[in-house]
Amino acid sequence: SFHEHPKPLHLSSDGPFGTFDRQQLQRGFQVYSEVCATCHALKHVAYRDLAALGYNEAEVKAIAAKAQIPAYNPATGEVKMNPGQPKDHFPPVVYGGAGSPPDLSLVAKARHGGPAYIYSLLTGYADQAGYKNEKGEELLKKFPEAKTPDGLFFNPYFANLNIAMPAPLVSDGQVTYADGTKATVDQMAQDVSAFLMWTAEPKLEKRNQTGWPVIGFLLFATALAYMAYRTVWAGKK
Ligand code: HEM
Repeated sequence: SFHEHPKPLHLSSDGPFGTFDRQQLQRGFQVYSEVCATCHALKHVAYRDLAALGYNEAEVKAIAAKAQIPAYNPATGEVKMNPGQPKDHFPPVVYGGAGSPPDLSLVAKARHGGPAYIYSLLTGYADQAGYKNEKGEELLKKFPEAKTPDGLFFNPYFANLNIAMPAPLVSDGQVTYADGTKATVDQMAQDVSAFLMWTAEPKLEKRNQTGWPVIGFLLFATALAYMAYRTVWAGKK
């Protein structure tokens, strides 16, 4: 197929020793909140989970309180909106545009390429006319029928090349980072991809940490078994 492989993205959470960069996760959460949240929900994430990003209790409460959480009353059949509490999950998004934006909680695990795919998708919008892929094939020469229909956007990283999402990150400084980092499009794309890696796999660090004692124990058990073998067969020819 024509679509591109994701560009490389290096995150501190990569690899067996990986740990999250909390500053980056907070920046990514800021991008999500200010840009992506208009269209995409995060239903698997509760506000209190954000404590893992380094926010204190008061900050988590304040973040939750900015959200409106629907509460269904079965007695009256009414839905009431209440300010969020730390225990609440991110609410569904009311979206009236074209296409249907998927929930983003698990997308970094659901898509091949993970966070690198998200990063590539966000920075990969291109002009279709004359576009050549990494093999040097010119798309419209090879597949004239692949011309992006009106209302969709050409993105060579998207599986079918034509995506219903308009480029969400378009100008440097679109968000003003609380930590003073320069908010280039590339930086915002990296940060939100790192954040979505965390939402998809919040236990990644714990798992990495528990892995090592397990390997240590297995080595110890192997050594013990070997010594037992030597003892049992000692003196036998
Ligand atoms: C799809 C991320 C902002 C509308 C997607 C997908 C991802 C994503 C990962 C899934 C692509 C796939 O299926 O492989 C983001 C991020 C955003 C953002 C990280 C913020 C930086 C927005 C905004 C809108 C939007 C602001 C609405 C104006 C959509 C729609 C789809 C989509 C409609 C479905 C596309 C299709 O299946 O053709 N987005 N998005 N997104 N997004 Fe966004």
